[in-house]
Amino acid sequence: MKENKNISGKPDKAVRVTKPYLPPLEEFQDYLRDIWDSRWLTNNGKYHQEFEKALCEYLGVKYISLFPNGTLALLIALQALRITGEVLTTPFSFVATTHALWWNNIKPVFVDIESDTFNFNPTKIEAAITPQTTAILPVHIYGNPCKVEIIKKIADTYGLKIIYDACHTFGVTINDIPVLKYGDLSVMSFHATKVFTTFEGGAIVCHDEATKRRIDNLKNFGFAGETTVVAPGINAKMNEFQAALGLLQLKYIDKAIEKRKQVACHYREGLKNISGISYLEDMPDVKHCYAYFPVLIDVDKFGKTRDDVYEELKRHNIYGRRYFYPLISQFPTYRGLESAQPGIMPVAERVTQKVICLPIYPELRIKTVNQICQAILGYS
Ligand SMILES: Cc1ncc(COP(=O)(O)O)c(C=O)c1O
Repeated sequence: MKENKNISGKPDKAVRVTKPYLPPLEEFQDYLRDIWDSRWLTNNGKYHQEFEKALCEYLGVKYISLFPNGTLALLIALQALRITGEVLTTPFSFVATTHALWWNNIKPVFVDIESDTFNFNPTKIEAAITPQTTAILPVHIYGNPCKVEIIKKIADTYGLKIIYDACHTFGVTINDIPVLKYGDLSVMSFHATKVFTTFEGGAIVCHDEATKRRIDNLKNFGFAGETTVVAPGINAKMNEFQAALGLLQLKYIDKAIEKRKQVACHYREGLKNISGISYLEDMPDVKHCYAYFPVLIDVDKFGKTRDDVYEELKRHNIYGRRYFYPLISQFPTYRGLESAQPGIMPVAERVTQKVICLPIYPELRIKTVNQICQAILGYS
């Protein structure tokens, strides 16, 4: 990293792991005024309808149902497919993935992850299936696609449904095919920390009209008409303010992802060939969204632990995050499960101890990326 050798000092302001991209305020004000004047604030309003349509077009999928956040979308996705019994999932994710199972009274069965992608390992699926297994809930972790074709083959063989937690992906494709086309359903999050944000927000992607209708009923108290209730649904409707922001964000998202890519490339350059530091490369044939920049710190080679590096960065005013530590299976709610016992998921147990996500967002300056790299290199 020659060009960084002379760069020292720490950022004057705290650098967080992410910073939401927001469009120019004046442009959003036009939408706000229109919503104010119309007095139509929620319940499938004009912007909700427009955003659903525009999002389908942008993402290259047929049906989307909008939600106020990704967690409610996960809960409803499981309800929509009437998933029960046991579901195979990953321990290396944000807790909401497994909490959605718990809230549906479904038993999570944890499966280890792959060492090269940190995604759900499909070679571990078959051994974890029992007569109670009804579905698989993998996560495209950090936005990197799972082995979707292999997972599909196994699910088809055993008659299992697939719901992808796609909360980290936005616009990701494999060989130009949207990753959201795989699985029975995919769940998205538009939380403030995500690549694409509507303040809070979420969505379910499905592939047929009947499923879309069922999801739309479930998120609106089960109403299928003015006086008809077909299920004990919930209130999980996206409001007009979120939908309007979503519409506006679509104008800027390509540029925002391009800037994230530049940050990721710079980190790779700055941290390459450093003993004890590794990171994920782009996958062949995949268009990425650069949601996170995870780095693994190997204490034996680098001489410092991940937590040492985390604390050192804080001293430099840089706030990385230990996504995902601890493993979901290590939280009290889940650690009593058979599949959560220590030693069963060696890869996940190793990665969770080594990983730190470095700041990445469109407005992150290259000078700051250099300072972050320098803070790490100077510490070894
Ligand atoms: C993998 C994953 N699943 C689910 C969620 C929940 O989404 P939300 O915060 O929109 O409820 C998040 C993030 O917040 C996440 O990272």
